[in-house]
Amino acid sequence: MIEQSIRLQQLEDGVFQELALEKRRIVASGRDVIDLSVGSPDLPPSPHVMEALAQGVTDPNAYGYAITGLAEFNEAVAQFYKRYHVNLDPGTEVLQLMGSQDGLSHLALSLINPGETVLLPDPGYPIYEASVRLAGGIPYPLPINEDTLHPNFSLIPDDVLQSARLMILNYPSNPTAGVATRSMFEEVVRVAQTYDIFVIHDFAYSEMVYDGLEAVSLLSIPGAKDIAVEFNSLSKTFNMAGCRVGYLVGNKAVIGHLRKLKSHIDYGIFLPIQHAAITALTTDHDFAGQRQIYTARRDALCDALTSYGWEVRKPAATMFVWAKTPNNRPSHAFAMELLREAGVAVTPGAAFGPRGEGHVRMALVTDAANLRAAAERIGQHLAAKVLG
Ligand SMILES: Cc1ncc(COP(=O)(O)O)c(C=O)c1O
Repeated sequence: MIEQSIRLQQLEDGVFQELALEKRRIVASGRDVIDLSVGSPDLPPSPHVMEALAQGVTDPNAYGYAITGLAEFNEAVAQFYKRYHVNLDPGTEVLQLMGSQDGLSHLALSLINPGETVLLPDPGYPIYEASVRLAGGIPYPLPINEDTLHPNFSLIPDDVLQSARLMILNYPSNPTAGVATRSMFEEVVRVAQTYDIFVIHDFAYSEMVYDGLEAVSLLSIPGAKDIAVEFNSLSKTFNMAGCRVGYLVGNKAVIGHLRKLKSHIDYGIFLPIQHAAITALTTDHDFAGQRQIYTARRDALCDALTSYGWEVRKPAATMFVWAKTPNNRPSHAFAMELLREAGVAVTPGAAFGPRGEGHVRMALVTDAANLRAAAERIGQHLAAKVLG
């Protein structure tokens, strides 16, 4: 039997698969599970976007290889990005991706040589570390301040900053729900310039900010385009996660490197999806209504959990509640216990890196009534087994 490669051996089997298998077993035994483990939006795309997709699939000419993104898609992204106070050249500063995951998993391969250091958020979205390891790079955890949820560069030894070639950031953050400020990003740009570190910013939750906040694009900071690229996606912003369409914007040279790698990997996105994405980017979407829905869900879950004696911080952004486990319970054991005994699936914080331990992540992917029901199940479990 052929063995998996040494590179692949560095990656652990995903915890999401373990949760999904256990959930399937529980459901097969006749019990139901409220699943808050995966950040897949349950809200639909706008009706006119679904209509564009439906029309597209009836065009017999739409079924060939797309090869590259349509020029109109790049123009639509450039137009959309003006809302973040960023001007983009559609020809050279935008690259279409099969979801931002496509780019996040391949960019390190196009930039990093074996043995080179990459600064990563810990806790952070798992593909960052996996992609660095697959490229042979060495991940170095960025210390994140527990209150501000911003990186603390002063805690990184100077020799690490001197040797680091790349830094990956994600604001608004999965899983911590941290939100960047302009001054935080100004410091990032200064550090990047001083130490010659290229910055990859994942902006997938750019429209999921609440309480009157606005998300800041790293590219809106003067000088950022010289040292950074930014990922974004239609998955969360337009509820199109299953369509697999996203994009990379910013530094031309780096966009060119990823374009070159991708030209060897894929033949582009199904054209009707590209047309639906263009429709989404260029027509009105009810962002205010969407924010209201997520705020109401957040309040329903956090207020109910707090009323049952588990105080959780209300996130100012994203679709995630990032909570310290009660009585410091180990995150994996606590998550499995909630799944098996309370019928609620949450993600153990350790899945996001060593500093995620002691936390769980709950996704606001169902309506407020269901979230209250989940909190009630958790509350009963806590009263019986944990807090009582
Ligand atoms: C922070 C972050 N980045 C990227 C992604 C991947 O999104 P996409 O659907 O664009 O591949 C996700 C998905 O959950 C995410 O949470």
